[in-house]
Amino acid sequence: MAAHSPSADPNAISDDVFTVPAGVTEVVPILDFGSQYVQLIARRVRDAGVYSVLVGPNVTLEQLKKLNPTGIILSGGPSSVHDDNAPKPDPRLFDLGVPVLGICYGMQVATQLLGGNVAGAQEREYGRAQIDINENTDGLFKGLPDQTSVWMSHGDQVENLGPDFIATATTPTCPYAGVRHKTKPFHGVQFHPEVTHTPHGGDILNNFLFDICGCNGQWTMADFMASESTRIKAQVGDDHVILGLSGGVDSSVVAAMLAKSIGKQLTCIFVDNGLLRKGERAFVETTFRDHFDLDLRVIDAEKAFLDDLAGVTDPQKKRTLIGHRFITVFKETADQIKSEFAQGKKGKSTQIKYLAQGTLYPDVIESGQGYAGTAANIKLHHNVGGLPEQLGFDLIEPLRNLFKDEVRKLGEVLGLPHAMVWRHPFPGPGLAVRVLGEVNKAQLELVRDADEILLEEIVSSGQYEKTAQVFAVLLPVKAVGVMGDGRTHEQVIAIRAVESQDFMTADWARIPYDVLATISNRIINEVRGVNRVCYDISSKPPATIEWE
Ligand code: XMP
Repeated sequence: MAAHSPSADPNAISDDVFTVPAGVTEVVPILDFGSQYVQLIARRVRDAGVYSVLVGPNVTLEQLKKLNPTGIILSGGPSSVHDDNAPKPDPRLFDLGVPVLGICYGMQVATQLLGGNVAGAQEREYGRAQIDINENTDGLFKGLPDQTSVWMSHGDQVENLGPDFIATATTPTCPYAGVRHKTKPFHGVQFHPEVTHTPHGGDILNNFLFDICGCNGQWTMADFMASESTRIKAQVGDDHVILGLSGGVDSSVVAAMLAKSIGKQLTCIFVDNGLLRKGERAFVETTFRDHFDLDLRVIDAEKAFLDDLAGVTDPQKKRTLIGHRFITVFKETADQIKSEFAQGKKGKSTQIKYLAQGTLYPDVIESGQGYAGTAANIKLHHNVGGLPEQLGFDLIEPLRNLFKDEVRKLGEVLGLPHAMVWRHPFPGPGLAVRVLGEVNKAQLELVRDADEILLEEIVSSGQYEKTAQVFAVLLPVKAVGVMGDGRTHEQVIAIRAVESQDFMTADWARIPYDVLATISNRIINEVRGVNRVCYDISSKPPATIEWE
């Protein structure tokens, strides 16, 4: 299994991990042995309404006790228990009287520590497997069928359980697919209950949390907000934070979160680069000015961006120019705010110390870092990167442990408008990647007007929520048409509508013909300069979502 480095030094994790937020009564810490799915485990626990934190494998017994855990989970990981530096938990954690669930490597290391024996890999087992369940009236597999499929991903496996364990599930090649200790509250699974490829994985984790640990599952996203808010206030102190607000879900949720936590100690910078969708700037301004108490700076930089782009047709060059200009504008604005500070205009905040970013957990994983990693992931403008380093700020990334749909839930808790919380993604370089060929004001107007009509129809026909991304692309070619008595020679709009889970792969959306017909009629009638509309029926791969 692909992995990140486990946090070998628990002290590398800030100490507030071990401070349970006020009001939280049930905590299930996860010892992170380096599995790339560790956050998925945390997320399943959170979904079940139980507060969870990731801790390093060398977490001390005192630190664990401070959390007063209701249960403990040992994650999977890439190591072999036979490796010299294999991460191992303190064996006394099995005597805390708290139920422990070991997953994959977590089960192997626990059985090894408790008298079993783990064999080195003869061959790796990766993929779906059928397990036979020996105990389903009680325990981890309570209520499950006698047979079910699970997702395996391991090299080593337990060879000999020793006298103190019982096998609770088996496969033809893995005799100990599920185990429990006879006297200690330890349960283990060799497979991964946290991934969707294990259809009863959720039931298994719920059995652990509710039946075995006795959790009630009262924790919610509102509680997450409350505890993050306390953490952010403590971290920021009297300092000031700036945030590049794009109007996308992630930066908007961060803005709302920070506004509610530190109010005017946050300044949001929204750069109008002239490449935005119709009404975008007004939407962001009204949302944040009307609903939140924050300092919002809207920077009108259209001219600078369009001057840079004049005559440029190469898509990569466009991205680079846009990225560099963004950094310049952002930096100038940050300097301006700094000079206001220097003149004492900002009340009690003493300096701008932090840059906030809407980095999500999948971004952290894609950039190959664990949660305790140090290298900053550059979400703000992934086309260029380097903004935090260039500006010299520390980072605040309050969404770093969350998945996209959790961020949306949080957005709703924060009172952001539904349309903002559920909006489709929009690329950093904006409409510049949707005007093929040269980008100029006139071409931008055409694509903007076509896009507005498209989205109106997609929303009103109930297709917006069924699709992952929908937009118009302006092609740099002219086609012949006929309007009234005359021939026309005008441009072509391509419509792109895709369904996708993760945007790595996508299929074209089967938008009903009558909706497409209305879209086409309206664009051709209402957008002067366009006489044809095409529907893109390419999947990704081999096509991409954007045309560029
Ligand atoms: P592609 O076109 O690569 O797009 O299939 C996948 C997803 O990424 C978005 N995208 C970008 N986002 N800057 C961004 O912030 C970019 O340069 C960029 N290019 C593509 C795209 O809209 C889709 O959601």
